[in-house]
Amino acid sequence: MAKRIITTDFTEEDKKIEGSLRPQLLSNYIGQEKVKENLKVYIEAAKQRNESLDHVLFFGPPGLGKTTLAGIIANEMGVSIKITSGPAIEKPGEMAAILNNLQEGDVLFVDEIHRLNRQVEELLYPAMEDYVIDIIIGKGSAAKSIRIDLPKFTLVGATTRAGMLTPPLRDRFGVVNRLEFYTVEELKEIILRSAEVLQVEIDGEGATELARRSRGTPRLANRLLKRVRDFAQVKYDGRITKEVAGFALDLLEVDKLGLDNIDRAILVTMIEKFSGGPVGVEAIATTIGEDPGTVEEVYEPYLVQNGLILRTPRGRVASELAYRHIGLL
Ligand code: ADE
Repeated sequence: MAKRIITTDFTEEDKKIEGSLRPQLLSNYIGQEKVKENLKVYIEAAKQRNESLDHVLFFGPPGLGKTTLAGIIANEMGVSIKITSGPAIEKPGEMAAILNNLQEGDVLFVDEIHRLNRQVEELLYPAMEDYVIDIIIGKGSAAKSIRIDLPKFTLVGATTRAGMLTPPLRDRFGVVNRLEFYTVEELKEIILRSAEVLQVEIDGEGATELARRSRGTPRLANRLLKRVRDFAQVKYDGRITKEVAGFALDLLEVDKLGLDNIDRAILVTMIEKFSGGPVGVEAIATTIGEDPGTVEEVYEPYLVQNGLILRTPRGRVASELAYRHIGLL
């Protein structure tokens, strides 16, 4: 078990839901087979050599298991984890203090690592490469740089925006993993496992319906499971069937493909305002009042993967499937 957690940016709700449903070991983690297989080898090798694990970067859309995998790495290595995030660390001194308090082998998890400011990021370069930091003491002509040795730690970075990482930071990660959306089968397995943890009764068809509408994302699957459980309890006999799941998910405005309001706004905008495209991602984002980077790296990947949006050299195009889907709504 990971022993300590220092700061996190998660809401209380996140912590409650995800804490209890998160797998603690690679062997009970479902999906991301390639990532798991690789990590297993690196962890085993580092343990055999009695070394800390090399720095690991996870990137991909939110909710696919970056934080969970960081916790698993710490558990499997038998070390502690400290959790923080890019925007939470404002000054190099704060990062220096966190690094200086690590124990040999510890995992430092930095979520949203693309949001570290430049001075903090620059402090990380020698920390990652040589396990040292240089800090300046005093001002003006009296200023002195002193070098502090750090324990051999493992930085686990996570980002939804791989394109925003600077090359020098990215290059300092020895292991880089892209997380993929989960298949319906994998999500179903996760939902059945979570239902067992939560002691909710659910049948196979109910789990499949939830899995189909979870946008390829375990975090969403677990949240929806909790909400659907409430409907099952209050409006039905407590058991989640296909009918109960369908009823609750319709009310929650999660559609048959698992799309939410923003996903649908993107498709509707492309079709109604831009004649289906080709249109640039900036134009789509501006029209719906979202940040272009967020549209590109958070929303679009699922829509592209499911054939709703086609990426062409001249811009994004709404597919026939997108027309049909929006037409049906
Ligand atoms: N809960 C959330 N993500 C999970 C995963 N990938 N495997 C098992 N349980 C999970």
